[in-house]
Amino acid sequence: MKRNIQRSVRIGIMMAQKYKFASRMRLENTTILGIETSCDDTAAAVLKQGVLLSNITANQEVHQNFGGVVPELASRAHLQNIIPVVQEAIKQAGIRKSEIDAVAVTQGPGLMGSLLVGYSFAKSLSLSLGIPLINVHHMRAHILAHFIKKSPDDHGQPKFPFLCLTVSGGHTQIVKVNSPYEMEILGETKDDAAGEAFDKAAKIMGLPYPGGPLIDKYAKDGNPSAFTFGKPRVEGLDFSFSGLKTSFLYTLRKEVEKDPDFVEKNKKDISASIQSSIVDILMEKLEKASQEHGIQEIAIAGGVSANGGLREALRSRKESLGWTIHIPPMAYCTDNAAMIAMSGHFQFLKQDFSNLNAVAQARKPFTK
Ligand code: KG4
Ligand code: ZN
Repeated sequence: MKRNIQRSVRIGIMMAQKYKFASRMRLENTTILGIETSCDDTAAAVLKQGVLLSNITANQEVHQNFGGVVPELASRAHLQNIIPVVQEAIKQAGIRKSEIDAVAVTQGPGLMGSLLVGYSFAKSLSLSLGIPLINVHHMRAHILAHFIKKSPDDHGQPKFPFLCLTVSGGHTQIVKVNSPYEMEILGETKDDAAGEAFDKAAKIMGLPYPGGPLIDKYAKDGNPSAFTFGKPRVEGLDFSFSGLKTSFLYTLRKEVEKDPDFVEKNKKDISASIQSSIVDILMEKLEKASQEHGIQEIAIAGGVSANGGLREALRSRKESLGWTIHIPPMAYCTDNAAMIAMSGHFQFLKQDFSNLNAVAQARKPFTK
């Protein structure tokens, strides 16, 4: 048994190497299948020469009433969704499986049980089709989503070097992007991520998970100056959101003691106020990074980049600070497989293929 496993891994590697040699002549002309299962979205996409042919995501509603993602339920839902999602992505792309040049998959970071479903599936598919497997870093892929082309002559991508504020449910980082391969973290959160701050505030307000989009929705009709919450004092380009959450909790608790319906009556103003606090914290550090590094080419990425307040704050800096800004289309903000396929495309150009005995990594380092 053990020998058989080793043999199949060896065959897989040999096939990938053979392919590697044969494909050198047509590197740019590649068709990549991207697969993403790092958290609670099962996603697959097909990208040809950097142009998106299909992008399918199955969201998991099972977590809504638990106030957060339940890892066991997420893995189970991925297992149910993965085959239909991949089949649909291939169907909508209008290609045959034999036209796929490589399978790019999220190796990490993420929830181990979730990652394992997509990773094992991608590994088996690459082995059965005799094509390379590409290990993708989820957070780097969020940034590289900016390079997905709407059409072959779409040239609106950021110019290097640029700064990217990457804000999701698990991460908050300012990254200096020198090339698709060379990225440097300039600052990151010391505790909660920005998305987590949104979701925890929503939970305190009694809203279902994920609360970020709901706060965004209510904030549109609220007064951002109605309530003020404690601001963190963090050195350099790092962030902190845990103090804000505590200040938010205490403020609401005090008000609810006086009026049990306080949250319901004021949910628009509360939402607008907490959103504006989070956005201010993010923008203050992004401005500082831009000044310190002399870079005015600025992008945002990750789930929180869907936030109306953050998108507006970035747009206003275009005028006042002369920034060239890059805001991703909504479909590429939250988790998706188009960004995984895009990262796969760049890695394919460098022949950065995985060894078939590689494993998923819940804490995959940013540098690789
Ligand atoms: O990137 P993502 O889909 O998954 C992770 O990699 O974490 O980000 C999910 C996070 C959640 O915390 C969610 O509440 C937040 O992004 N989010 C938003 C909005 N849409 C998603 N937060 C604020 N406003 C939004 N419109
Ligand atoms: Zn993400």
